[in-house]
Amino acid sequence: GPAAATPGGEGRNGSLRLAIIGGTGVYDPEILEDVREETVVTPYGRATVRIGTFRGLEVVFLARHGAGHTVPPHKINYRANVYALAALGVKRVIATAAVGSLRQALAPGHFVLVDQFLDFTKNRISTFFEGGEEGVVHIDVTEPYCPEIRARLAEAGKALGLPVTNGGVYVCTEGPRFETPAEIRMFERLGGDLVGMTSVPEVVLAREAGLCYATVAMVTNYAAGMAGQPLTHEEVLEIMAANGANLRRLILEALPR
Ligand code: HPA
Repeated sequence: GPAAATPGGEGRNGSLRLAIIGGTGVYDPEILEDVREETVVTPYGRATVRIGTFRGLEVVFLARHGAGHTVPPHKINYRANVYALAALGVKRVIATAAVGSLRQALAPGHFVLVDQFLDFTKNRISTFFEGGEEGVVHIDVTEPYCPEIRARLAEAGKALGLPVTNGGVYVCTEGPRFETPAEIRMFERLGGDLVGMTSVPEVVLAREAGLCYATVAMVTNYAAGMAGQPLTHEEVLEIMAANGANLRRLILEALPR
């Protein structure tokens, strides 16, 4: 439980405790050693994480959709997940996300370090602060995604020669259906670059919890209507599988050494 967290979230090597939230296609903390599973009981429900070490650094891994991808985007218990990470003393989070691209230049396999979002979710509890005892809180989201972690990931991308763009607008839809081509045209006109189903409220809750949170989005497909053929979840999984090794290399290269 939370007792495993050291005061101040300091890892064994003195760096801030870090978590990876694995999105679609990223279910396994393969890279970690001495992995143990922990279930954290939160006021919002349980969240199960795996905790292991990488180069002596303790890393918490959370599979956003559950270990076997059984939880769809609109059913994810975002509050329990973020609360659990904070309770474990996590200070920094790198989240992965499979996304559709609204830009020809952002082809499948491209990585984008998201810097803004447009929220088109409809039915999600997106705050820890519901009035009453918790009070009324309006969190600032001028810079929702951690600039320091983004900078590290950008450098890592450069070092590895991977296609990484630092900055991009993530349009979050409710899902679980994909979008209509008309919606995609609308999102493109509104300034969206990518479309996915999970960054909101995850990033918002992370900010409320005081975490430094960044998302590395991987383009798995051109958005609906752009490729002239229907979208499938299989296609998303295929591209994730083909580029998953690069995603892992990118994240590992960005971790403190
Ligand atoms: N739309 C929404 N979410 C997604 C997509 C998409 O095209 N690809 C991967 N996640």
